[in-house]
Amino acid sequence: MSGFRVANFTVILAALSLAAPAGAADAARGAVLYKECAGCHAAQRSLMGPPHCGVFGRKAGSIEGFAYSDVLREANFVWDDAHLHDFLTFPIMNFPGTKMGFAGMFDENDRSDVIAFLKAERAADSPMCQPGADPAPPPGTTTPGELGGTVPTPTHGPRNDGAAKASQ
Ligand code: HEC
Repeated sequence: MSGFRVANFTVILAALSLAAPAGAADAARGAVLYKECAGCHAAQRSLMGPPHCGVFGRKAGSIEGFAYSDVLREANFVWDDAHLHDFLTFPIMNFPGTKMGFAGMFDENDRSDVIAFLKAERAADSPMCQPGADPAPPPGTTTPGELGGTVPTPTHGPRNDGAAKASQ
């Protein structure tokens, strides 16, 4: 009896996955999944990773001044669906030497949705990619991927200590 249930459940799962045909990518769902990327990638600024505006259709490793790994700098292709699926599935295995420290996105639907988000919300003519739409955070703020920050100014200098002693 339980064997029948398990088999039946498998059939239902198979039917469900057939019901979501490849190509029905969901950019809104991709926006949620993109949180996994946003710590390292901004629209127009370089963080740990290069900016994503216009990345779909852009030559790999082509942002001027970004310190790419050799494997991306020397890559001679444009980011299309096939290359993005390949890279995002398992970056360090499929692009040995890449600096992208991201484990990978193993689910094909997840990848399709994130790629749909890149195509729509990071297209060169999208709102986030217009001048001034992706401002740098205020000075003194650190964002993930940026080193440094402000060094606190000491509030108790030797002069103050001396003054405190003298008044005792
Ligand atoms: C831990 C930081 C980090 C995370 C998280 C991350 N990336 Fe990256 N990404 C990088 C770095 C660094 C590079 C440059 C890789 C190199 O030079 O080998 C890169 C490169 C890329 C590139 C190639 C861009 C170009 O100009 O050729 C794409 C596309 C990309 N990432 C997409 C994504 C997506 C989509 C996600 C989320 C699913 C993601 N990344 C998550 C750091 C990250």
